[in-house]
Amino acid sequence: MKAIAAILLLAGSAAGQQAAYGQCGGTGYSGETSCVSGYECTSYNPYYYQCVPGTASAAPTSTSKTSAAATTTGTSKAATTTSSVNTGSTALSTKTSSSTAVPASTSFAKTNGLLFEIDGVTKYYAGTNCYWCGFLTANADVDHVFADIAASGLKIVRVWGFNDVNTIPSTGTVWFQFLSASGSQINTGAYGLQRLDYVVSSAAAHGLQLIINFVNNWSDYGGINAYVNAFGGSASTWYTNTGAQAQYQAYIQAVVSRYKNSTAVFAWELANEPRCSGCDVSVIYNWAAATSKYIKSLDPNHMVTMGDEGFGPLTGGDGSYPYQTSAGGYTWVDDLNITTLDFGTLHLYPDSWGQPYDWGNLWVSTHGAACANANKPCLLEEYGGTNNCTIENPWQNTALSTDGIAGDMFWQYGDTLPSCSCQTSQDGNTVYYNQGNWDCMVTQHIAAINAS
Ligand SMILES: *[C@@H]1O[C@H](CO)[C@@H](O)[C@H](O)[C@H]1NC(C)=O
Ligand SMILES: *[C@@H]1O[C@H](CO)[C@@H](O)[C@H](O)[C@H]1NC(C)=O
Ligand SMILES: *[C@@H]1O[C@H](CO)[C@@H](O)[C@H](O)[C@H]1NC(C)=O
Ligand SMILES: *[C@@H]1O[C@H](CO)[C@@H](O)[C@H](O)[C@H]1NC(C)=O
Repeated sequence: MKAIAAILLLAGSAAGQQAAYGQCGGTGYSGETSCVSGYECTSYNPYYYQCVPGTASAAPTSTSKTSAAATTTGTSKAATTTSSVNTGSTALSTKTSSSTAVPASTSFAKTNGLLFEIDGVTKYYAGTNCYWCGFLTANADVDHVFADIAASGLKIVRVWGFNDVNTIPSTGTVWFQFLSASGSQINTGAYGLQRLDYVVSSAAAHGLQLIINFVNNWSDYGGINAYVNAFGGSASTWYTNTGAQAQYQAYIQAVVSRYKNSTAVFAWELANEPRCSGCDVSVIYNWAAATSKYIKSLDPNHMVTMGDEGFGPLTGGDGSYPYQTSAGGYTWVDDLNITTLDFGTLHLYPDSWGQPYDWGNLWVSTHGAACANANKPCLLEEYGGTNNCTIENPWQNTALSTDGIAGDMFWQYGDTLPSCSCQTSQDGNTVYYNQGNWDCMVTQHIAAINAS
């Protein structure tokens, strides 16, 4: 998805008292303090206690959790630029609490035929996108979001693993990498990759699986444009720019080395929606082959995928704009052959692409057929159609019933954050936990998956 607004737009009220995930305590709070059966009142901070799954108890409980991730950082093998590491100075509190609704994963997720196998279970999986999860600064917010996602039966969560800047922001603003030809910096401080550390440790605690990507085609959170600002060239020459690619690989190594042993990582992803305008298709093919091979050399245990939208000609396609090579500057079905890419990705935004909504079924089924032909699973990892179940449920059903499509992840997840009692942003496609279209977009879809 391209357009990203500020995270926090709407002030929301706290959820119902005493019910699952309702507030049950905190400074200034005067409502019910005990939770419904199966939930316990847990203190996130002095201002917010919440009913989370667990053995009901009268008194609020509080547990401490610190990041389990290693704090090693890497330097590029092939770096032609200098990199340094900013460890920051301001420590964020790591004391928080969370519930464990689902047991943590004990093995690395992998492909199994045309499906994914997670913890020994091979089936169709549903998930969602939380691009902002790594940018939250309150641990309790991360835990709250992941507890809700896990409780819903969604399994795979896609987060942005990048946050690139050309100017280092003031303390308190999250950034992961400063890009400059005269010396880039990877921020491993409290407002740097330690935020991603917490996301990985909380995902593990909640039995969730993360897709973590390394750069954005779009300018939100820096992206390729931030590399262009530092290393020159253009968005299209980024894929072959020596300085930019060296720093991109240095960043990949820094992130991969932190979580290479974590079973909460589902897959590494090269980029969000890479496109190469006016390029020969070999540019993205060669970049994807080289980058995925590099990641496998660092970490042979995790899956790797591209993160592209799925453009290019396909058997059975109707030749409309998304089925043309020019849409992305690559031929998706040929990139699917790259042996170091474990599965394919596709996105679906008919209105952004000038197509009728029901065209989405053709898009999903033609990709599924190509995935089956290539003997690799594919993931419908983003889709959006004005947050309307009449539009989107058919795509979900097509994905579920199409061989080669192994899962789907709607764009995007929304929730009420405990730190501010405010809602995350509504970008037109946000589905809020237990509100509005949640039931028809998520609950019923999970039930259909479980019944299939
Ligand atoms: C990851 O696992 C490997 C192999 O078991 C081990 O040698 C290495 O020390 C581990 N790294 C971390 C950071 O835990
Ligand atoms: C993203 O993709 C489009 C389409 O090819 C391209 O025009 C644009 O420059 C790319 N990068 C950025 C940073 O917008
Ligand atoms: C990729 O595989 C498909 C069939 O699976 C084949 O038709 C195509 O030529 C291959 N492309 C490349 C670039 O190898
Ligand atoms: C949902 O989409 C359908 C089909 O396009 C349309 O008829 C309906 O009005 C939409 N509902 C809302 C609430 O916009």
